[in-house]
Amino acid sequence: MLRQSRTLTSSQSSVPPFTDGTDLPFNPKLFTAKLAVRSSIHNSPFAIYEKVSAPNIETIVSLAKRRGFVYPSSDIYGGLGSAWDYGPMGVELYNNVKQAWWRWMVYERDDIEGLDSSIILNRLVWKYSGHEETFTDPLVDCRECKTRLRADKLEKAEKTNDASEEPAFLKDIARRIEQGYYKCPSCGSKNLTEPRPFNLMFQTHVGATAEDDASALVYLRPETAQGIFINFLNVLVTSRRKLPFGIAQMGKSFRNEVTPGNFIFRTREFEQMEMEYFVKPGEDEAAHQEWIDACNQWFQTIGISNANLRLYEQPKEELAHYAKRTVDIQYRFFPEREDEERQWDELMGIANRTDFDLKTHSKKPEDAEGKRLNPDSTEDLSYFDEQTKQRFYPYVIEPAAGVNRTVLALLMDAYSEKTNDKGETRVILKLHHSMAPIKVAVLPLAKNKPEIVGMAKALKRSLQPIVRAVYDDTGGIGKLYARQDEIGTPFCVTVDHQSLEDEAVTVRDRDTWEQERVKVADLPTHLLQRIAVVS
Ligand code: GAP
Repeated sequence: MLRQSRTLTSSQSSVPPFTDGTDLPFNPKLFTAKLAVRSSIHNSPFAIYEKVSAPNIETIVSLAKRRGFVYPSSDIYGGLGSAWDYGPMGVELYNNVKQAWWRWMVYERDDIEGLDSSIILNRLVWKYSGHEETFTDPLVDCRECKTRLRADKLEKAEKTNDASEEPAFLKDIARRIEQGYYKCPSCGSKNLTEPRPFNLMFQTHVGATAEDDASALVYLRPETAQGIFINFLNVLVTSRRKLPFGIAQMGKSFRNEVTPGNFIFRTREFEQMEMEYFVKPGEDEAAHQEWIDACNQWFQTIGISNANLRLYEQPKEELAHYAKRTVDIQYRFFPEREDEERQWDELMGIANRTDFDLKTHSKKPEDAEGKRLNPDSTEDLSYFDEQTKQRFYPYVIEPAAGVNRTVLALLMDAYSEKTNDKGETRVILKLHHSMAPIKVAVLPLAKNKPEIVGMAKALKRSLQPIVRAVYDDTGGIGKLYARQDEIGTPFCVTVDHQSLEDEAVTVRDRDTWEQERVKVADLPTHLLQRIAVVS
């Protein structure tokens, strides 16, 4: 979404939030309590109390670093603000998200093609898309402590509950700053500058040219979508497509965010999964609703609980300049916040972009005086309908999600704890099997017994072509189980002394901790039957 019209108010969704299955509005405390009761009667001796979902992002930051999901980037040189690196577990989870999305979006449908366009595009793409002019955040400086702030995220100097006082436009914010309505969140001063637009696109230069050579100026893409629009004709022709059809793309995007933060929620470099679905004008509203429902369902399919998702209808004043309607799928990223409304933030946006993008990149459209609106384009990105013999610019429905935010939502949602009567707490990451970085860990009960180690290693090798499997002997069996629980491995296979005799192993389930003896010959089939796939 373009930033000119970003969230400036915290208005209510017109779509009611999801419930926890009762007629009452969703109550996270009640929901957790119900699960605690449910967990106390399941048959694990350890589980006397179970919490579901991470209580806050900080809990995940610590788990992510401890278990190799995400590390602060450039840490040995003091870090780099909002940059994060994905470790051995993180990269697997990250790739699982992308693979699941691509399979769902491209392979399982018959009306979507894939694309991988350049990150650096001709500067004119961003001129005509509107990004050069409008992809901005309003910026304010604190004159006292020199902190740079996003004007639409300023703190009120005095607490007030009147939502109608929330300013929606830059000029309102300017007036309120002058009246001392806001304070700097760092030092509390009301001595703030007037807001001014700050363009979020990262600039660089192509070729061995001078830094100030304007003709060499290019941007790192702030969304993958424009790469799709400029390839609309290429894909249409080479794939012999007819409307409706879509083009999907995953890839890095870059935004020089004024206030990045909340771990991997808002970063300057991130990855998007976007799809532009082209339809006949008039068929756009129904298609939009179908994609809203389908995407909401998809997040649940990969394991995010319904209770932590909701739909948010963007009010008119929040819509980007190209959008007719946009609905966000929000996740409860901030469950610790007292104000329920502030617990939610965007996981995905689903916009009806109308025919804005194809038209703006086309050479033909003219203004009232017959002047070409885009004198630089060499193509007309319109569509000829053989049936009606009419030419028009297709409307576009755009589901756009962030890979990083999906990873964060999955980690938060899967987080659970079991505490025993001694007060010892275990973390269990109840990821959907398809998202788990490792599906099976093969563990020897005694690492000083070469026959047991040899059998365990051979088992790991035989499972690897079928599922992502690891071998681990770096601790006692209790520690090894705990470590696998913490990274979300659905099954542990233990090789013990008896295995050498009866050619059988113990399969332990992450969620129930139940153990089952399985013949080695039956193990691949047994595991494949039990590992849940995204359906
Ligand atoms: N082409 C439309 C578009 O880019 P957007 O709402 O700005 O729309 C889509 O971005 C998704 O990309 C968001 O829902 C979010 O998941 C992700 N995203 C956007 N900015 C991000 C950032 N700075 N850090 C991490 N993810 C981001």
